[in-house]
Amino acid sequence: MTFAEELEYLRQQTPLTRAVADRVCARDLRGVRVAFAVHLDIKTVPVVEAVVRAGAEVFVVTCNPATVRDEVCGYLQGCGAQVRAHAGMPEAAWRDSLAWALEQRPHFLCEMGGELAYRAAHDPRDVRAGMEATGTGVQRLRAVDLPFPVLDWNALPLKEGLHNRYMVGLVTWTTFLHVARVTLYGKRVLVVGYGPVGQGVAEYARLLGAIPLVAELSPDRRLLARHAGCEVLALEDALPTAHVVVTATGRERVLRDEHFARLRDGAFLLNVGHSNRELDTDALRRYPTRTLRPHVEEVRLPHGRVYLLAGGAMFNLAAGPGDPYDAFDLTSAILLAGLAHLLDSGPAYPPGLHPMPREVELEVAALATRLRAEG
Ligand SMILES: NC(=O)c1ccc[n+]([C@@H]2O[C@H](COP(=O)([O-])OP(=O)(O)OC[C@H]3O[C@@H](n4cnc5c(N)ncnc54)[C@H](O)[C@@H]3O)[C@@H](O)[C@H]2O)c1
Repeated sequence: MTFAEELEYLRQQTPLTRAVADRVCARDLRGVRVAFAVHLDIKTVPVVEAVVRAGAEVFVVTCNPATVRDEVCGYLQGCGAQVRAHAGMPEAAWRDSLAWALEQRPHFLCEMGGELAYRAAHDPRDVRAGMEATGTGVQRLRAVDLPFPVLDWNALPLKEGLHNRYMVGLVTWTTFLHVARVTLYGKRVLVVGYGPVGQGVAEYARLLGAIPLVAELSPDRRLLARHAGCEVLALEDALPTAHVVVTATGRERVLRDEHFARLRDGAFLLNVGHSNRELDTDALRRYPTRTLRPHVEEVRLPHGRVYLLAGGAMFNLAAGPGDPYDAFDLTSAILLAGLAHLLDSGPAYPPGLHPMPREVELEVAALATRLRAEG
């Protein structure tokens, strides 16, 4: 299948995104500069493309070097966007690309991870408003004094409730079966962090025959986990018993050397949180490692071996296909609707973080219902 055919197939499976993209394309965005720092996966193509087709000057970088597809970069470039990203780009080149995006003096930022807004907070230049699509980015931006408004798109109930809760869990395990070539039957799966992402990961693990364990800092989410039938344990106590450990906190270095020392022989380690540093892979790689299969690295710890999957990057995206197209349709449609709201009304908000208004996704939900009824 060529990239063009794959894109055509994606478009067939994402009618909602098509409908919202048509409305964005119909705008006149000439003279407007928009910088995107997003996963450069085929599914974000329609989002970026709509803004280019509306006439905006568009600058594209990645929010995560581990999820870049070169064909996506090439395609967006062909549409007229300026792109600075390539698959496997080193950390230093990625940081340069973020600086480059800001040097283009964008008016609007649309991102996943808050890298641009965080940097622009100290030197906003022409930035009028931004939009942040991840919990990790929102958390990072809470720590800075933003001189411009940023709309928190992640907290929209449908995005958080459907995308984070269902899609990551489902695809994490279909990817795991494919990459690790082992099942979850009877395995103790430890989920670290029980937000919507962790909840979905634990639930789908159970559906595939696993025993879900949860380590979570917040007492209310520990209670939720217990009510969902998970074993809730302190991280230190859970690690020696887990066959598979999944981090889903969005924080950095959640699992460090002292935790690795507690892992059982043969344990699998993977991360689905936004940061590629949730597992302290620098600490792990001080031990002898070798790649046994694509995305499967054996690490020889002093007391046994563990398997690091996808180098600790976001597993479902870095080692798998990411979300199924039809499910991502809702996500990308809401993303585009949020972007339209950002362009129309973003600068009118006072500086700082603001929730994206609920109406943005209610309108898309109504459209989804209509399209389904028609289809
Ligand atoms: N892989 C994907 O495709 C994908 C998709 C959506 C979101 N995400 C990312 O997944 C991460 C989680 O998303 P969410 O919506 O569930 O976020 P969230 O912030 O609602 O939940 C994270 C949970 O982790 C807990 N936590 C933090 N540090 C911890 C620690 N040291 N030990 C145990 N628990 C800890 C927090 O208390 C919180 O309950 C974010 O980084 C988000 O950006 C990934």
